[in-house]
Amino acid sequence: MELLNGKETSQIIMKEISDAVRNRKSEGKKIPHLAAILVGGDGGSITYVNNKLRACEACGFESTLMRYDDSVSEEVLLNKIHTLNEDKSIDGFIVQLPLPPHIDETKVILAIDPMKDVDGFHPMNLGKMALNMPAFISATPSGIIELIRRYELDTAGKRCVIIGRSNIVGMPLSILLSQNKEFGNCTVTLTHSQTKNLKEICLQADIVIAALGQPGFVKEDMVKEGAVVIDVGITRVKDESKKTGWRLSGDVDFDQVAPKCSYISPVPGGVGPMTVASLMMNTLKAMDLKGK
Ligand code: GUN
Repeated sequence: MELLNGKETSQIIMKEISDAVRNRKSEGKKIPHLAAILVGGDGGSITYVNNKLRACEACGFESTLMRYDDSVSEEVLLNKIHTLNEDKSIDGFIVQLPLPPHIDETKVILAIDPMKDVDGFHPMNLGKMALNMPAFISATPSGIIELIRRYELDTAGKRCVIIGRSNIVGMPLSILLSQNKEFGNCTVTLTHSQTKNLKEICLQADIVIAALGQPGFVKEDMVKEGAVVIDVGITRVKDESKKTGWRLSGDVDFDQVAPKCSYISPVPGGVGPMTVASLMMNTLKAMDLKGK
């Protein structure tokens, strides 16, 4: 069994990005600038956004954080998005999800200029991605594909089972992995809460991708010998032995499943850091696109 080390891989990618940025700077060119909108005080969201801002620093990017209280109105948020769309100094921006229930997430996503939508959530980017056209691909799916690319895993003709059909991970990943291109060409089964015989379906998979948000859901009896297992889950679970009182848990029961795998991504240190690295890649791309 070999670990798919997302932490190490993301550091390699961010070093490549920071080298590119340093070269740009020495030529007197603009450096990328990412803005992030964070609404409310959810601990998980604060951590994710802080990780993204820290990554900006590591890559030599400029970054700006805009924080709003939970009670912020939809109108204020939409106005901020319009301002960021027009602001020439900002190359790309993200609105950290989830948003409070009184704010319509779809409206918010639709308000983002697709050329600055480095999260790849806008229908324009999702549609282009589905048609295999150049687009911003959301960070988690593209981070997973990048991890597969860096480990040179064979995907062509492989059976891939994805558990979870979210707009952010499962749905786009099912499209990307089935496309006729390098690190695609899988036979993909997208499974979800209504899927029958999930265990039997998973047992046929050469590649299992767990993205349902249920800690330890994938057990040893769901994975065939030699499979590649990619764990997208990242849930805080109570752990009194930790100073914080919690630890991060993936969707895969790692201790049970790992001995059966050819490759497996751990949590933490697997897909999470790759997601951040992908956001940095998208931000660099956003700046290049703007120059055209
Ligand atoms: N919430 C969970 N994942 C993400 C992400 O990739 N981007 C944003 N903006 N919010 C998220």
